[in-house]
Amino acid sequence: MKTYVPNRKRQPEKMLDVVTAWAGLEQIIEDIMERFDIGRDQCIEFGVEFGYSSVVFSNYFKKVTGVDIFIGDEHTDFKGDHYEKTKASLAKYENIELIKSDYRDWIKEDKNLYDFSHVDIVHNYKETYECGFWAAQHSTCTVFHDTESFPEVRRAVIDIAKATGKKVYNYPYHNGLGIIV
Ligand SMILES: C[S@@+](CC[C@H](N)C(=O)[O-])C[C@H]1O[C@@H](n2cnc3c(N)ncnc32)[C@H](O)[C@@H]1O
Repeated sequence: MKTYVPNRKRQPEKMLDVVTAWAGLEQIIEDIMERFDIGRDQCIEFGVEFGYSSVVFSNYFKKVTGVDIFIGDEHTDFKGDHYEKTKASLAKYENIELIKSDYRDWIKEDKNLYDFSHVDIVHNYKETYECGFWAAQHSTCTVFHDTESFPEVRRAVIDIAKATGKKVYNYPYHNGLGIIV
């Protein structure tokens, strides 16, 4: 994967104060959008947890749809149902819609096209590939968290880029962000 080198890092205006391995990546999202001329209407995220990345995306898109089972997984920990807690803390961000769903059920039904998508679910090859392949086919640009910390995510990203014929980049900081465009 070619290394992604941002031209300019910028801090988004709206941020959520929660601890997450995603922290730091907010500084390159606008740069990615400008580099690849991404539209600013619709964004979909798989893997919301407490909403850090959803709030980052809410700075740039008219609407952000966040899909999560809201119970955690084997890699982030099974932390019990935190849908209501996350919903309450994101209530003031009116352009974020949270959906309590497994990605498997969601992608069976959703036929929409998005400007941007983010995959940050359980970090296994099978799930990342399945969700990410759908996301890459339904959006202009798809980003994947944890390409550095989880080799299975990295492998899935490379294989999705091959299967879709899209370009792939990797930003090797903050646990890694794969970019398919
Ligand atoms: C690493 S966390 C997401 C972190 C978040 N992006 C942030 O900014 O902090 C992974 C999330 O994926 C969710 N998840 C795991 N498997 C899932 C599945 N099959 N469908 C939907 N969400 C899933 C978990 O519930 C967990 O909240």
